[in-house]
Amino acid sequence: MSSKPKTESFFIRKMTLADLPQVEALENAAFSQPWPKGSFEYELREDSSSVCLVAVDGVKPEAERLLGVVVAWRIVDSLEIGTIAVDEDYRHLGIGRNLLAAAILDSQQHGIVEALLEVRKSNQAAIRLYLGLGFEMVGIRPGYYQDNNEDAILLTLKPIDFNQIRNLISLKYV
Ligand SMILES: CC(C)(COP(=O)(O)OP(=O)(O)OC[C@H]1O[C@@H](n2cnc3c(N)ncnc32)[C@H](O)[C@@H]1OP(=O)(O)O)[C@@H](O)C(=O)NCCC(=O)NCCS
Repeated sequence: MSSKPKTESFFIRKMTLADLPQVEALENAAFSQPWPKGSFEYELREDSSSVCLVAVDGVKPEAERLLGVVVAWRIVDSLEIGTIAVDEDYRHLGIGRNLLAAAILDSQQHGIVEALLEVRKSNQAAIRLYLGLGFEMVGIRPGYYQDNNEDAILLTLKPIDFNQIRNLISLKYV
């Protein structure tokens, strides 16, 4: 993409079943081991503990463009991030940070006190995103990723400063 996209028409909302084709395409483009569409569908239809959000460009309301996706699970008082991805043409615009912050904030009312996730050791963009939100590295799972035997780094955010997280949200969240 030649010029930097304008973010004024971007917003975050809950994922719906109608988003699934675009979610699948984005996920397939972002990961070597993507979640299948059925997993997102299961989260939307069956799993009341999950938080499923998308970032979209609403400049054409009749045809929103999907820019990013996050799915997380509330497990007792923890929020576990399952997947997060942003369309390659729209990275480094703050969309990933907004999605993650919105998922955490969305769970405040459910009494979560920590957020946790794992990430490939080589995924510097994601690691910097997480450290920027205040996550800390707490462990390593050697050889966790089966496709290349890569280690996973475990990160947690605890305690969660919800005011700080709220201040990170710059996109409209409806
Ligand atoms: C990781 C990912 C979700 C980040 O999304 P994004 O929208 O580009 O991230 P943001 O623009 O919100 O960036 C937030 C911070 O992350 C860091 N970051 C993001 N992209 C980066 C890059 N390419 N290089 C270095 N740091 C980067 C920066 O610290 C950035 O803060 P800054 O803009 O103030 O410098 C995106 O790169 C992606 O979809 N990657 C493929 C899927 C993936 O790896 N998901 C994570 C699995 S654990």
